[in-house]
Amino acid sequence: VEQSYIMIKPDGVQRGLVGEIISRFEKKGFLLKGLKLFRCPKDLAQVCFIRIYYLPFIFSQEHYKDLKDKPFFPTLIDYITSGPVVCMVSTSFVILSCKAWEGAGVVASARKLIGATNPLQAEPGTIRGDLAVQTGRSAPTFMNVVHGSDSPDNGKREIVTLLFAALWFKEGELCQWESVQTPWLVE
Ligand code: GTP
Ligand code: MG
Repeated sequence: VEQSYIMIKPDGVQRGLVGEIISRFEKKGFLLKGLKLFRCPKDLAQVCFIRIYYLPFIFSQEHYKDLKDKPFFPTLIDYITSGPVVCMVSTSFVILSCKAWEGAGVVASARKLIGATNPLQAEPGTIRGDLAVQTGRSAPTFMNVVHGSDSPDNGKREIVTLLFAALWFKEGELCQWESVQTPWLVE
C-alpha cells in the first residue's frame, strides 16, 4: 500500500496550525495510520549509539540526506530540530486508490495539497500557500510548515520497516484500520 510520511514542521506546531493542517488531509479523505508529537534529536552520537543496538533510529540528517550538499542544509537541520514536530502516516483513502483515480496516489496527492517548497511561490489553496510565511532571516531555510514524501519509495524510507532503515516510526506504532465510510463510497 502506498503511504506518505507527512510531518508538521516546528513552525506549524509553534504557530498553532496542527489542527488546521491535519484537518486538510482528513477532509481530502486521507486515512491516518500513525500520529505522534516528537522532538527530533540533532545529535549524531545518539544515532550511532542506537544503531549499534539495531533499533530504529530517528535522524533529521538521514531524512534530508539528498540535500546534504546544499548551502541551506545546516539551517534546515537547525529548523527541523528546533522544536516538536507532528509525525503522521497517511495512506490513500479508497477514493484515491480505486480504478477511476488510478495514478493519483497518496504521495502525489499530498504534495499537491501541500504546495510549492518556497512559501512565496506556493499557490493559494495549498497548505503552504495559505499558511506558510517567509522569515526575514538572512540565510533562511524556507519555513514551510509541512513535509510530504516526494515519492512512494521515499515514503517507505521515511516511515519505518527495516531495522536499519526505520526513520520516524517504530514498528507497532502504525494502526491498521479502515474507515466506516469506505464501503459506502465504493458501492
Ligand atoms: P519537504 O517536504 O520538507 O521535503 O520539502 P520539499 O520536498 O518541498 O523540498 P526539498 O525536499 O527540496 O527541501 C527540503 C526543505 O529544505 C524545504 O522544505 C525547505 O525547508 C528547505 N529548502 C529547499 N530548497 C530550498 C532553497 O532553495 N532555499 C532555502 N533557503 N531552503 C530550501
Ligand atoms: Mg522533500
